[in-house]
Amino acid sequence: MPKPAHPPIAMKAYERLAERYNRRAPTKAHNAHYDRPATLSLLPDVRGRQVLDAGCGPGIYSEWLINEGARVIAFDVSSRMVGFARRRLGNRAEVLEANLEEGLGFLEDHTIDVVLCPLVLDYIRDWQQAFAEFSRVLKPGGLVVCSISHPAPDYFLYHSGGNYFEVETVIERWLFGRDGDPVEMPRYRHSLGHLFDALGSAGLIVEKFLEPRPTEAFRETEPENYDTLMRRPGFLCIRAKKPA
Ligand SMILES: C[S@@+](CC[C@H](N)C(=O)[O-])C[C@H]1O[C@@H](n2cnc3c(N)ncnc32)[C@H](O)[C@@H]1O
Repeated sequence: MPKPAHPPIAMKAYERLAERYNRRAPTKAHNAHYDRPATLSLLPDVRGRQVLDAGCGPGIYSEWLINEGARVIAFDVSSRMVGFARRRLGNRAEVLEANLEEGLGFLEDHTIDVVLCPLVLDYIRDWQQAFAEFSRVLKPGGLVVCSISHPAPDYFLYHSGGNYFEVETVIERWLFGRDGDPVEMPRYRHSLGHLFDALGSAGLIVEKFLEPRPTEAFRETEPENYDTLMRRPGFLCIRAKKPA
């Protein structure tokens, strides 16, 4: 697979944020009480299954998968995230440093039961290539489960002014908790159509499409953000299947 012409858009930002992410994401409301419960609800029973945690960050999802009896291969483009994931998982998973935009050359065809990719595709420009690689490594009947920023508020509330139908680069200021300096977080903004086009081109069939609501635990920790997320979507979660 040819190397992309651009460096990974968010790698430097995640190198800066890795320590804070590792410390905060296990309990931070948007992760613990919004993204994770919704995304995990789309997984099948993973006991004995081979799961790829694509863009694993500090390995929080991988740890959950291992505790549920899955065999896990995880990777991330940020060496600091990989370091935190290795510390969290020890020898219970294989954790690699790899860039999803360069493909999954470290995996053979048809070897994975489930590809899990939460909150990572926002940093990938070419979704057709990413889903094609997920499909290549999946066994027939295998699943992709992923979450992304919801395209509707992304454009119409936060980043309008460009062209909804184009892939555009946007930059946000992230604090990720109350301590530390803000981090400029660049990512790509995709349309809803891009998601379905890329899944379709890869031969993946959508089984479930979820616009999650925050949980009650979210309300207890961040009541104002809870009210907002009960009225407008923040993330979108999807489960798609490679035909058997
Ligand atoms: C919001 S974090 C999500 C981490 C983890 N999936 C979770 O939900 O806890 C996004 C992660 O994507 C990783 N990432 C960004 N671009 C990537 C790329 N091109 N290849 C692999 N990982 C990437 C970042 O380094 C970061 O760890």
